[in-house]
Amino acid sequence: MSESFRELLRALPDFPDDLPDFDPDQAPADPAALFRQWLAEALAAGVPQPNACSLATADKLGRPSSRMLILKDIDDAGWHFATSRESRKGLELAANPHAALNFFWQQQGRQVRVAGDVVLLSAAASAADWAARPGADGSMNPAWQLYAIRPREFEFWQARHDRRHIRHRYGPG
Ligand SMILES: Cc1cc2nc3c(=O)[nH]c(=O)nc-3n(C[C@H](O)[C@H](O)[C@H](O)COP(=O)(O)O)c2cc1C
Repeated sequence: MSESFRELLRALPDFPDDLPDFDPDQAPADPAALFRQWLAEALAAGVPQPNACSLATADKLGRPSSRMLILKDIDDAGWHFATSRESRKGLELAANPHAALNFFWQQQGRQVRVAGDVVLLSAAASAADWAARPGADGSMNPAWQLYAIRPREFEFWQARHDRRHIRHRYGPG
């Protein structure tokens, strides 16, 4: 059972034959500009929900957890996402306001990692985000909170068939 499961996992295909090029020397100096470019390319390539990413948080003892969510915006405040302050991630962010995002666009062999401090955006912006959700029915959700990650570091990763995968970093280290 476990042997055949291992074989099944090993036999799964990885990336498609056609992968985009990425030359870090040509990349914009602003990581948000590169992200917008990659998101546009992901949309053009038919990647479903390229705005979905994992959000990793940790509790006050440093024990991690992660889940998927939707990137809502990027502006001077940071990279926006929204959730309930009463959720596990909301409670973890209250105790430990640091987080990491990870986008994965399989059709292109691309991954984008973003990590930094997290701040709370305004109640008005949070209410507007709640009201703009698909299927919104006019009800309020006082626990709904718009957050922004203020990135400290980024890594843009491009898979290559020759296994010389490209990693382009911004930030310390
Ligand atoms: C593609 C996708 C997008 C999601 N987007 C959000 C989101 O934007 N905000 C949110 O609170 N939960 C979102 N969820 C649900 C979360 O993954 C998670 O189950 C929920 O927020 C509870 O997480 P927690 O218990 O770790 O706090 C999404 C799930 C998926 C699969």
